[in-house]
Amino acid sequence: MYIILLGAPGAGKGTQAIMLAEKKKLVQVASGDLFRKALQQETELGKKAKVYMEKGHLVPDEITIQMVLERLAEPDCKNGAILDGFPRNLEQAKALDKALGQKSSAIDKVVYIKVSEGELLKRLGGRWICRKCQAPYHEVDSPPKVAGKCDRCGGELYQRADDNVETVKKRLEVYFAETSPLIDYYKRAKKLLEINGEGNTSEVNQRILNALR
Ligand code: AP5
Repeated sequence: MYIILLGAPGAGKGTQAIMLAEKKKLVQVASGDLFRKALQQETELGKKAKVYMEKGHLVPDEITIQMVLERLAEPDCKNGAILDGFPRNLEQAKALDKALGQKSSAIDKVVYIKVSEGELLKRLGGRWICRKCQAPYHEVDSPPKVAGKCDRCGGELYQRADDNVETVKKRLEVYFAETSPLIDYYKRAKKLLEINGEGNTSEVNQRILNALR
């Protein structure tokens, strides 16, 4: 089963991907997490991606598509995956359709998490993430049990460099220009499930599970 989580920066894709991956026994494949891991390890991929990420731009398709398709070809993805942050434009969506088609598979559902702009800014402004497993927290809405430490793996929490006001503005612009056309693309394919992303994380998760049933 392949499920895409679509939504603006801060909509809660990462948060819901973790919850959904546990419930559906599927792997979360998050393009942003893969880039951040490469960045931490200072690989060639990480160095290339950094230039785009710190400006809030999309990393070029030829880099991104190859990275995600290679990840999807790993054994733990043999039953499918929860895709978080990919695809991000029509080019990536078509490349994904093609790659899955080659193994007689396809995207099952696309969950579009809809959140107002004011709420997105509030969420991104208070976000902390785990350096080790990338789980997101919020200093007001979902703080960790122990300050500065991840509940899941005990890793150190930090604030993302691209969560500053200027870069968030750019990321939102890029989302509306390049990613939001995917809403129509998947609507036409009859795969889109639109979910109200406001309310607490459990409420949103329940709405997603109900819609997927
Ligand atoms: P990426 O890491 O994918 O970031 P994003 O899409 O901007 O999304 P975010 O991770 O910011 O938000 P989210 O929706 O996952 O929200 P979260 O659950 O964390 O991409 C970063 C960069 O990498 C891009 O700018 C680009 O440069 C590059 N990149 C990545 N993928 C790419 C691709 N495919 N192509 C090209 N370039 C790519 O939640 C946010 C906050 O809200 C958290 O604090 C959380 O605790 C809180 N929260 C979540 N849900 C709720 C709720 N219901 N109520 C209250 N608070 C909540």
